[in-house]
Amino acid sequence: SLLNARSVLVRNRNFWCTIEKHGSASCFGTDQVRSKLEPTVAMDSPTASQCSFPDLRDVFPGCSSYEDLYNLSIKETDLFWGTLARMSLRWNRDFEHVSNCNMESGLFRWFLGGKLNVSVNCVDRHKEKDPDRVALIWEKDEPGQEERITYGQLYTMMNQVANVLKTHGVKKGDRVAIYMPACPLAVASMLACARIGAVHSVVFAGFSAEALASRINDAEATVVITADQGVRGGKLIELKKTVVAAVGNCPSVKAIFVAKRTGSLVVSSTLDVDLDEAMAKESGECEPAVMDSEDLLFMLYTSGSTGNPKGVVHSQAGYLLYASLTQRLVFDCKEGDIFGCVADIGWITGHSYVVYGPLANGVTTVLFESTPTYPDPGRYWETVQRLKINQFYAAPTAIRLLLKHGDEHVEKYDLGSLRTLGSVGEPINVEAWQWYNKVVGKEKCVVVDTWWQTETGGICISPRPSAPDAEIHPGMPMRPMYGIWPVIVGEKGEELKGNDVTGALCLKKPWPGMARTIYGAHSRFLETYYQPFRGFYFTGDGAIRHKNGYYQITGRMDDVINVTGHRLGTAEVENALGQHPSVAESAVVGYPCNDKGEGIYAYVTLKDGFLAGVKMETELRGIVRQKIAAYAVPDVIQICAGLPKTRSGKIMRRILRKVAADQTENLGDISTLADPAVVKDLIANHQTIK
Ligand code: WT7
Repeated sequence: SLLNARSVLVRNRNFWCTIEKHGSASCFGTDQVRSKLEPTVAMDSPTASQCSFPDLRDVFPGCSSYEDLYNLSIKETDLFWGTLARMSLRWNRDFEHVSNCNMESGLFRWFLGGKLNVSVNCVDRHKEKDPDRVALIWEKDEPGQEERITYGQLYTMMNQVANVLKTHGVKKGDRVAIYMPACPLAVASMLACARIGAVHSVVFAGFSAEALASRINDAEATVVITADQGVRGGKLIELKKTVVAAVGNCPSVKAIFVAKRTGSLVVSSTLDVDLDEAMAKESGECEPAVMDSEDLLFMLYTSGSTGNPKGVVHSQAGYLLYASLTQRLVFDCKEGDIFGCVADIGWITGHSYVVYGPLANGVTTVLFESTPTYPDPGRYWETVQRLKINQFYAAPTAIRLLLKHGDEHVEKYDLGSLRTLGSVGEPINVEAWQWYNKVVGKEKCVVVDTWWQTETGGICISPRPSAPDAEIHPGMPMRPMYGIWPVIVGEKGEELKGNDVTGALCLKKPWPGMARTIYGAHSRFLETYYQPFRGFYFTGDGAIRHKNGYYQITGRMDDVINVTGHRLGTAEVENALGQHPSVAESAVVGYPCNDKGEGIYAYVTLKDGFLAGVKMETELRGIVRQKIAAYAVPDVIQICAGLPKTRSGKIMRRILRKVAADQTENLGDISTLADPAVVKDLIANHQTIK
């Protein structure tokens, strides 16, 4: 078992000891451990620059393998994270306590008393060492048009944006909404917030005006940063127009900063500030705010089982440490590497693995503006060849799509630079995994299926880190990251010990990257994650621990579905449908769908006097697009006479899921239904999925 390592490092008053299983112990003094760390620092004098992590086996003598390090991280949690935090981050003031966490009460604090600035850690220290090192490669929509931004240039851009924000009254703690696709100014804007201590809330640039407005209002953001238009897959996206429509309903917003992307004239508003012009007037130097480890860094909205998306909150030091450590260890990313995560910055993957993780590690990160199939299905691979990408990180939905287009789109390109191929967002099926491994990786790359969530801040389960030759099984994330203790919990909340067990996936031990709260809704935070199973963080996912101790994710256990790697609450779609005047009631479920992971199936009952038909379906789809986003639009709409309800009025979603998946042979017990005849009607009118 992983907890049964060969040796473990233990604290023994003045010594750190490694106790070998066979009984011998080797001890070394605290000074020796200290010498591995940054020097203990005087108050408010930044620690020396430290941009790259040494091998963890050198940091923790006595640990010679993944198992040893994992064991140490679980048993000596504070020693493990405290050492890494001092070593890998630059602090203005050393922390006094590594952690103060309580899984029962849902209170989590890391690196207490420590002071630092995240933007200094992501930019300044690399710029000091090597201002000409490339920080960002902006891979624009048209292939071959990429732009490179060095750490020196990013430093100036970030500070100019920070000064613009300050000039417009943005202060420490204020919320800043960012509605932009992946581009250097979006990254500079996120870092500018971190520089002055403002809290950013990046809203995925595919969300509708209404969805944007509700996120701005929930956060009471005082300014919005956007661009005139976006460009994706050869199409224009009306970013500014959407922001203007949203902000009409957002009384907290005092300014809209507009960056130039296409330069076309766009809808204007009295709140407009031309971002490029404003930046030109500002200095490229901005004193970084000295932040407490636990001050808010950002919030990011994600879907839950109720209709309102929740603003998941991450704080400064713990998040940065966790994002950077996982980026380096899971992907085996080294100085000089070019890291290509093709996620949008509007999702957590973009935050942790396009922006914060790679920049904290001082590597070059790619900002991908286009789509997997523009101008043709070879786009990713042509980009890998041209930019010489070393680690590539994408979603299974894209991999499945490209697989269907055929190997010739991959074989045209030299992918020899690739070392690690990552997958994230949903379970990757074995066929897609094999294709990724063979056709893209030529069986020479390490393929890592990484499991994590917006709430976890970074990767929690993944085949690496582990020994370089440790086995990897297709289609499962397998092993816990250091400090992560996964448990499988049964229906009564009991921990299922041993292997070959299936149940709710929970995490038993706090880790630095974990979410601290839901913005403005701490009780919802506790109810969602800490109350379902006492003493554990509940992920919302089901999982299997296989006989060899490896983890496989089975999917969500709540009313959340996973569409093309995007999380969507079925209640959100129901709320949107319910706003159409004809809709009496609706119930939305997911169904297995090869291309998208899950498809969206909506059952709708109409009010008297309204007619089903193509026109009605078009209107219903339109209202979902308008209220949420294009990716939330149902694939199937079945207008039905009634929904299957229990006598107490609860919709039996289990039946709806089975009908949607076309598995109607075994519907289970339907005797508790108020009107069992409803089921017959549902089956008779079931829409076959194209
Ligand atoms: C949910 C989290 C984490 C960044 C992207 C999504 C599903 C994520 C995997 C994986 C199986 C996965 C889970 C999880 N998920 N990665 N490797 N295998 N399922 O972040 O939007 O917060 O969604 O995505 O269901 O709970 P998110």
